[in-house]
Amino acid sequence: MNVNRRDFFKSTAWMGALAMAAGCIGNRFKMFEPCGAPMQGFSLKPMKKVRVACIGVGVRGRAALRRIATLPGTEVTAVADLFQDRVDAEVKWLKAHRKPSPAIAVAGPEGYKRICDSDKVDVIYNVTPWHLHEPIARYAMEHGKIVLNEVPGALNVEECWSLVETSERTRMPCMMLENCCYGEEEMLMLNMVKQGLFGEINHGEAAYIHDQRNLQFGGRYHTMDGAQDPVKAGRPGWTLDFYSKYCGNQYPTHGLGPVAKYMDINRGDAFDFLVSVESKQSSYSHYVKELFTDWRKDVKVKIGDINTSVIKTKLGRTILLQLDTCTPRPYSRLNLVSGTKGMAMGYPEFRVAFENKAGDGKAHGFQSEAATAELRRKYRHPIWTAAGEVAKKMGGHGGMDFIMDLRWTYCLQCGIPLDTDVYDLAAWSSMVDLTRRSVQSGSHPVECPDFTRGAWRTTKGFAIDEMDLTKLPGNFKNIKRDEDVDKVARQEGFIS
Ligand SMILES: NC(=O)c1ccc[n+]([C@@H]2O[C@H](COP(=O)([O-])OP(=O)(O)OC[C@H]3O[C@@H](n4cnc5c(N)ncnc54)[C@H](O)[C@@H]3O)[C@@H](O)[C@H]2O)c1
Repeated sequence: MNVNRRDFFKSTAWMGALAMAAGCIGNRFKMFEPCGAPMQGFSLKPMKKVRVACIGVGVRGRAALRRIATLPGTEVTAVADLFQDRVDAEVKWLKAHRKPSPAIAVAGPEGYKRICDSDKVDVIYNVTPWHLHEPIARYAMEHGKIVLNEVPGALNVEECWSLVETSERTRMPCMMLENCCYGEEEMLMLNMVKQGLFGEINHGEAAYIHDQRNLQFGGRYHTMDGAQDPVKAGRPGWTLDFYSKYCGNQYPTHGLGPVAKYMDINRGDAFDFLVSVESKQSSYSHYVKELFTDWRKDVKVKIGDINTSVIKTKLGRTILLQLDTCTPRPYSRLNLVSGTKGMAMGYPEFRVAFENKAGDGKAHGFQSEAATAELRRKYRHPIWTAAGEVAKKMGGHGGMDFIMDLRWTYCLQCGIPLDTDVYDLAAWSSMVDLTRRSVQSGSHPVECPDFTRGAWRTTKGFAIDEMDLTKLPGNFKNIKRDEDVDKVARQEGFIS
């Protein structure tokens, strides 16, 4: 779709009025004036020990705490959750595994404030429900803490600007925990892209396709008003609450993060505009009618079965972005990158194709199994070469969770910038809001805000970072696997 700027504003002007009437306009086309300094390439002084507060120890946060407690030079010094029993379970686990007891262990909705006020904590690892990511992160930065926010990092454009502005003003890093950027195949593909194997990159495909109907309607997520068991309470859990109220791609970053890295988004290219189309809702509706006789049979879900968006970048590339949490499609993040000389894709299995100039009839085919295995070996990302063996032993989505956690603590202990910054968090997470705005407007184009305020033009691209693990204390290779990590990953219903 070729939209010049004048036509674009003409076509979206009426959307502004519509959105304003709906009370959701926010700061759509406003660029915030910087009131601090840019955070690109920002690093803090090397830290001898990284002291982490785990805020939210539900299914994901519990697994994270248990990984973090095993990381070299890293200690869990605080734990918070809405529920006392969840806090107690983690304190008990730390004790049973001979880890230092946390200085603060607190239950309740505002316990995180006590933790942010404490001088016993450097990092706030925020694994709470989506609507708490921005307020907790903002409060934490205001109190001098580094923030690692689970996905999505924020829920709308206004919240994204708030985190950018707070990070710049407080000079505290704010990174999103997009673990899929650390997947073995994603990092392999990043390495291949950076080594020029696919030529000039012109297209990517990203998705989160994961049938979660059983998760959404089971007892897995507490309700918005804090009832631990939603089935007994007779109200939806917090994720279903979002799906019942909003359309659009509410979980965009697992697929988009890696593709944004292949394309150096915010580092030489930037998202320009998108259009988003959503199919009707039928899969959840059929599911509840067939399965339930209680209150769940009457739950109306607003999110369509499949949300499909196309993002255009400033350099003219395209990205297909999909969300599907309720059809029987097998798990996929698509993870496709395509350029002038070749392409690679991650699902259903890793495959690569290159242009064929010889005219020997081999065009349009994927590389053979043996050739693909050789590419995997040759272009394995150096970080996976350094830590892959331990990561696989540790588990957690095939080891990528461990690589991600190892990487941020390594960066902090070495005093180098974190891999992604608050601008990445904002650009990737803003898709929650932008896709919704497009769907609500009848799939008109929506401009993507430039959270870097033009700095994407001059910021350097993603490097292939080496990790010298001898810089970390202790014998890294001796880290022990905790069976619980895999058990918890299985509870999440992730297929890897
Ligand atoms: N990156 C991944 O692969 C991945 C996988 C699963 C979940 N997640 C993300 O992790 C986050 C949590 O998801 P989950 O599946 O663990 O959900 P969950 O409901 O199991 O866990 C959330 C926890 O936060 C706690 N909480 C709620 N309000 C709180 C408050 N004010 N202070 C402290 N704790 C509070 C809840 O009691 C609960 O234990 C979400 O943002 C989700 O998107 C990421």
